[in-house]
Amino acid sequence: MNLLAIESSCDETSAAVLVDNQIRSNVIAAQLIHEQYGGVVPELASRAHQQHIVPVVERALADAKIPKTALDAIAFTRGPGLLGSLLVGASFAKALALGLNIPLIEVNHMQAHVLAHFIGDSNPAFPFLCLTVSGGHTQIVRVRAPLDMEVIGQTQDDAVGEAFDKSAKLLNLPYPGGPLIDRYARQGNPLAFRFPLAEMPGLDFSFSGIKTAILYFLRDQIKTNPQFIDQNLPDICASIQYTLVQMLLTKLKRAARETGIRDIAIAGGVSANSGLREALQKTGQELGWRVFIPAFEYCTDNAAMIAMAAKFKFDQSDFVGQDVSPLPRMSF
Ligand code: KG4
Ligand code: ZN
Repeated sequence: MNLLAIESSCDETSAAVLVDNQIRSNVIAAQLIHEQYGGVVPELASRAHQQHIVPVVERALADAKIPKTALDAIAFTRGPGLLGSLLVGASFAKALALGLNIPLIEVNHMQAHVLAHFIGDSNPAFPFLCLTVSGGHTQIVRVRAPLDMEVIGQTQDDAVGEAFDKSAKLLNLPYPGGPLIDRYARQGNPLAFRFPLAEMPGLDFSFSGIKTAILYFLRDQIKTNPQFIDQNLPDICASIQYTLVQMLLTKLKRAARETGIRDIAIAGGVSANSGLREALQKTGQELGWRVFIPAFEYCTDNAAMIAMAAKFKFDQSDFVGQDVSPLPRMSF
């Protein structure tokens, strides 16, 4: 079975080829244009997808050594994401499926982040919990089967990736600031500064308060020392990262306790964060969890995870017709 998958939900154009159960190629074209605007500009993102999609798909097929005519199905991200970005991937996938007369498979981007754990040999057993943390989402998902999952906790306001990126902006770091906070945090003291931990009921999260707390904290410090940020960047980053990771782990521990599930995974862009990866390993050892952390290349947006999710749908002949259209707020 040869499957081509396309991901274009935000600002990465990606194509991957899966042959039987193996990912054979995973090509990702990032869009650097957004950096100068401090965030993703939707109109520029769809234009860049339009430019990248043909070369990215051709490269993915060439890397996998699979000719177009040998494909058995085409998968694409239907949502959630930016409408203009999703439209490029969806239209391209539909046209190619039509031209080759092969089935079309729609994939939910957030489900695909979870199913990235089935790339390779170390897979969680069902049921497992997945903390999916990205620039747009923060979810605790109970996964009963590949295509049977339920969100049991989520953010009521900002996503944790947004909290990283907005905090970085307050520190005058370029977009996306999450990876930079991670880098500076490695040289800092996580207990140097304290930020309040928001209390949310149940398994839900809130990250808007922490952003305001950081804003006021920096404003007060800068009043007495205008060089405060420059002089304390590693400690500030380590303290912010520590706080955000604690907020995530508190709820993940509660979810594991309440469900009795001990196979615990993380997914999404923020699962690349070294503080979160270390804290999860440590908590897992303390509580007897089996912990699953994706390889870096499958944390942030990529088409390999779309291919993996599509494989489960292909096995059930779960195809869509040519009248399918993107769902920017797609849920599951
Ligand atoms: O999953 P993803 O690539 O795209 C979305 O679907 O949103 O996640 C992107 C998010 C951004 O907010 C980015 O700052 C964050 O993941 N991120 C990180 C790290 N790497 C990516 N945040 C903290 N530490 C990192 N190392
Ligand atoms: Zn994502």
